[in-house]
Formats: sequence, C-alpha cells, structure tokens
Amino acid sequence: MKVKVGVLSAGGDCAGINSTIHWLVYSAFDRDLIPRRGMMFEILGIQDGWRGLMEIKPEKKESRNKWIMPLKPEIVRTWDRYGGTRLGTTRINPFDPKKDKGQVIVDNYKKLGLDALVVIGGFDSLGVAYKLYQKGLKVVGIPKTIDRDLSETDYTLGFDSALNVITSDIDRLRTTAGSHRRVFVVECMGRRAGWLALEGGEASGAAVVLIPEHDFVIERVIELLKKRKKEGERYCIVLVSEGAKPKGMPSIYERRGRDGFGHYYLGGVGGFIAEEIQKQTTLEVRYVALRHLQRGGTPTAHDRRMGRKFGIAAIDMIVSEDFGRMVSLRHGEITSVPLKKALERLNLVDVEKLYNTMAYKSLDQIL
Ligand code: F6P
Repeated sequence: MKVKVGVLSAGGDCAGINSTIHWLVYSAFDRDLIPRRGMMFEILGIQDGWRGLMEIKPEKKESRNKWIMPLKPEIVRTWDRYGGTRLGTTRINPFDPKKDKGQVIVDNYKKLGLDALVVIGGFDSLGVAYKLYQKGLKVVGIPKTIDRDLSETDYTLGFDSALNVITSDIDRLRTTAGSHRRVFVVECMGRRAGWLALEGGEASGAAVVLIPEHDFVIERVIELLKKRKKEGERYCIVLVSEGAKPKGMPSIYERRGRDGFGHYYLGGVGGFIAEEIQKQTTLEVRYVALRHLQRGGTPTAHDRRMGRKFGIAAIDMIVSEDFGRMVSLRHGEITSVPLKKALERLNLVDVEKLYNTMAYKSLDQIL
C-alpha cells in the first residue's frame, strides 16, 4: 500500500524540528520495516506551515513546486544538526473568524491526495490540527515549543536548547556584571508559562526569578537585591519571564497588537523592573532581553534525541492509524495522547510546589 504523508511545522520555530523531520523521513523510508508495515511512504514537506496548505493550488505544477518539498533520506540527511525549521513556519491561524480558511485546507489536503498530515506545533497549531481532525483529516501532532506549556507530555521540542542558551548567556553576563558590581535584569521568553525562567534560574543560580504564575511586588524585588548587596555579593542576576506581571498593575508590553491567535506580543517587563531598581536604589542596573536568541542556534543533544523519538513515533502512529493524537513523553517513555486532552489546559508552573513566593526563586528545600 502507498501512503502519502504531509508534514509541516507551524507557530514559532525552535531547535529540534529539523531533527524530527530527519528521523520521520528516515523511519518512513526504512527498507527493513516495509514488509512488516506493508506500506510504502511518500513524504511531502509543506513549506511555511499553514500558509503553505492555504495558498497552494494543487492543480498547478508551479504552485506545487513552490509549496511542496518532497522529502527523502538523501534530502534530510544533515537536517538533524540544524536549528530552526528547514520547511519554514508561520503564525497564521487558518480558523481566524474574520477569514476562516479551514475548508481551503481540507480541500487542498484532498486535492494533494494526502493520507495523513503530521503537524509539528505548539498549543495553537495543534489546536488547528485538532479542528482539522474534527473535519475528517487524519492528523498526528508532535509537541514543539520552547515554552514547554503543553500538557499531557513531559517534553516539548526546543525547550532544552532554549534553556541552554539562557544559561550560557547568563554565564556571559555574569563576568561583566561582576566586573562592574551591577544588577542585570535578564528577560526570557515563555509566554504564560514560567518554566524557562524557573529552570534557567536554577541552572544559572539567578538571585531573583520572576514568573507569570505569581505576580511580583517590585518593592520586594528591591528588598532582596539590597539584602544581597549588604551580604557582600558583587552582582545580581534577576531573571524575569516575559509574561511576569507586577501585582496590581496591568501587564507590560513594549509592542502593541496581537497575533492571529489573539495573543499580545510580550516583552518589556524587564525594562520596567530595571527602571524601577534604578529609580528606587543606588544600584547600577542593566537590562538584557534575550528574545529570539533563545530560539536560535543548534539543537542540544537532548532536542536531537527527542526529535528522533518524536519523528519515529509519528510514523508508527500513522502505521497503526492512531489519528487525532499527539506524540507524548511520559515518565521517560514515548506514548501518545488524544489532541483533545492535550488542549484542555496549559501546563503552567505549580507555584505551591515549585516556587518560593517570598524569596522569588525555585522552592528547592524538601525539608
Ligand atoms: O511560543 C514560543 C514563543 O517563543 C514565546 O515564548 C514568545 O512569546 C513567542 O513565541 C514569540 O513569538 P514571535 O516569534 O512570533 O515573536
């Protein structure tokens, strides 16, 4: 039996996507598995995420050439070691109520003769995948987001690479902070989830960590910094998640507007904190927003391995016709969960268990 599979990446890029595609293709073309599976795969890489499936005119050859990249092992051979996504991605919401293109995607899926579609995405993109599944498409999801905010999986591609960037960038800032006896406010990503800040803070020993799940009081931040200074510390790192918010105040955004899924463009809270410290103390402060540096660069060994496992699992799910589900890592094992379940809630930091709301950092003590 011949099986034609489309694969696309949607939403923010991250390290590990290319590795997933590499291993998905390698598994699909694994000659040893053909007799057992009774399937011969054809893999079509769809360019630029949902945009590719919305804009393609399948009946026109030039359009197919523009939006489709036929994938074979010899094409993806070296992809596993590169960051970003070689297929490209966009943040378009095909089900945007103002210009609903859901049906266009369903029609194009059919016109392309696809038997299944693998979507490498985060909460929003997998939400689109689920709607398409409800419309009858055979969809498999692969969890990907540096925010690690998808529930029903212990891992989402890209998190470890982003965490390593945060850690190594803070290492860099430490030397200059120490030389000048300065406070550095470092802003990381994560949207509504504080995982990158919390774990980045643990890895780098940041003095203060602020997360979206617990509103901070600026006076308390300043108190903690003064206390450290009094104790003789030369410098301090305050690591703040872009979604963190001062108590009793509205969220702080440098950029106006929202994306296709209705999310505000985050970023800027670190600037507010730095300014307040400068205003209210004699401490010298600098502010660094890491922004997209966290998403760039080569995947860590962990993201390459997870990409491998997730990519192979997606093909296995197609073979066993497990559609409408997302690949998942649970307690060290690869499994799958219904997309519907994964989309019921976001995976946020459990403040009571993991965060010290007085010291503004991880709750490390177990006694
Ligand atoms: O969801 C991943 C993420 O990197 C968030 O942490 C961040 O808020 C957002 O994407 C940034 O999106 P964009 O790349 O569209 O600016």
